[in-house]
Amino acid sequence: MWKGRFKSEPSSLLTLYGESISFDWRLYKQDIIGSIAHAKALERKGIINTEELKTIKDGLESIGKDIEQGTFEFDTSLEDIHMNIESALTERIGDTGAKLHTARSRNDQVSLDMRMYCKEEISYLIKEVKNLQSSLINCCETFSEVVLPGYTHLQRGQPVLFAHHLLAYVEMLSRDTDRMSDAIKRIDVMPLGSGALAGSTISLDREFIAQELGFSKLSQNSMDAVSDRDFVAETLFCLAMVGIHLSRLSEDIILWTSAEFDFLTLSDQHTTGSSLMPQKKNPDIAELTRGKTGRLNGNLISIMTTLKGLPMTYNRDLQEDKEPLFDSIDTIQNAVAIFSEMIGEMKVNEEKTLEACSDPFLFATDIADYLVLKGVPFREAHEIVGKLTAHSVESGTPFQEIKMERYLEFSCHFDESVFDLFDIKSALNSREATGAPSPKNVTIQIDKWKTKLSD
Ligand code: ARG
Repeated sequence: MWKGRFKSEPSSLLTLYGESISFDWRLYKQDIIGSIAHAKALERKGIINTEELKTIKDGLESIGKDIEQGTFEFDTSLEDIHMNIESALTERIGDTGAKLHTARSRNDQVSLDMRMYCKEEISYLIKEVKNLQSSLINCCETFSEVVLPGYTHLQRGQPVLFAHHLLAYVEMLSRDTDRMSDAIKRIDVMPLGSGALAGSTISLDREFIAQELGFSKLSQNSMDAVSDRDFVAETLFCLAMVGIHLSRLSEDIILWTSAEFDFLTLSDQHTTGSSLMPQKKNPDIAELTRGKTGRLNGNLISIMTTLKGLPMTYNRDLQEDKEPLFDSIDTIQNAVAIFSEMIGEMKVNEEKTLEACSDPFLFATDIADYLVLKGVPFREAHEIVGKLTAHSVESGTPFQEIKMERYLEFSCHFDESVFDLFDIKSALNSREATGAPSPKNVTIQIDKWKTKLSD
C-alpha cells in the first residue's frame, strides 16, 4: 500500500510484530459499512461515478459475505482489516477499488470502526444485563418471604429480606446500564473526514456520512478525532464495573454455598465436581467471574497506560486498544449470560437462613431504637444495649430470655413490650422508610423493576 517510498519489503519479524489482522478482523462489518458510506460521499462529490459506486458497493458486500462464510483469506502481510479489505476490493473490481481511499486515512477509518463496534456491543450488553436483572427479580419473587441476616464486616448486623439483598444488585446493574447508555453518547461521534490528522483538501459531506452510519454528531477537531481513545477507556471502565458488581455477587454466592453458610444451592448444571474429592460441588461460575474481573480491570489499566504519554496525534501504540477491548467484551458478555442462567436455577435453603436469623443480636439495634422512642438519647441507648449484649454473651442468655428485673437494671425505660421486638416479621415491617427492607417496600420494588424491565 505504501510501496512507492520503499525499496525493500518489511522484515518478516516486523510483519508479524505489527500485524493486527489476527484480532481486528472482528471489525470487518463496521469497516465494510463505513467504506460504503464513504464511497457514497465520494460519489456525491463527483470523485467516483454512480457506476463505480455500485461496483465498489457490490465488491465490498461480496467480501463481507466471504468473511462471514469463512472463505476469505486474510493476509498477514496486509497488516490489518482495513488493508485486507481494500486490497481484496481492488483485486476483485480492479482500478475502481483504488479510488476508495480518497480523502480517508486508516487513522480516521479505524476510529470509525471502533466507535461503531463499541456502540453495537454496548447496546447488546445493555440488553443482556437487563436479562440478568430480570433473572434476579424472578429469584426475588420466588423467594420473596425469605429472611436473611444482613452483614457488615461479614459480621451479622440486622435482618433483611433475601430479596432486598438481591435487589441491591439490580440497582447496581441498573447504574451499569445507565452508564453504558451514557457512554454511547460520547462514542456516537463520526470521525471520518479527519483524514490522517488534518482532514483533506477534498471535503466530503460529513453530515451525510454520519447520517448514513447512524451517528448523531460529527467530530469537531481532526487531530482529536484520530488520536482519541477515551471512548475505548470509558467502554472498558463500564465493562469492568459490570464485572466488579458480578464479582461481588460471586463472592456472596461462594460464601452462601459453603457448608458454613449453606444458604444457597446451585443447580448441578452450574457447578462442577472434584477429580479427587467425590463430595464436592463447586461454584466455579462465580469463582471464574470473580477471577475474570481481574482481566477486566487489567484491560482498563492497559488502555489508560497506553494513552497516558502519547504525543498528538495518531501513534501506532493506539493499535493496542483492540485486544483489551475485544477481550473485555467477550469476557463480560459470557459472564452476564451464564449468570442469568445460574441465578434462574439457584435455590435458597430456607431453614438455614431462618436459623441464622434466629440470632437475637440481629435485634440489638432495634432495642436501642426502642429506648430512643422512650426518650433515651441514642448514644446512651447504644451504651445500654452494648452492656446488655455483654451480659447476654457472658451469661449465655439470649435477649428474649433475660428476665424483666434484669432489663430494668440496665435501664428503667424497659417494660414488657421489649419482648415484642424479637419477632423477625415485625422487625422487618417497621423498616418502612423508602429504600428500607420492609416486605411492603420490597414488593413495591419488585413490581417497579418488573414493569421497568418489561419495557
Ligand atoms: N491497525 C491500525 C490500528 O489499529 C490502523 C491504523 C494504522 N494507521 C497507521 N498510520 N499506521 O491502529
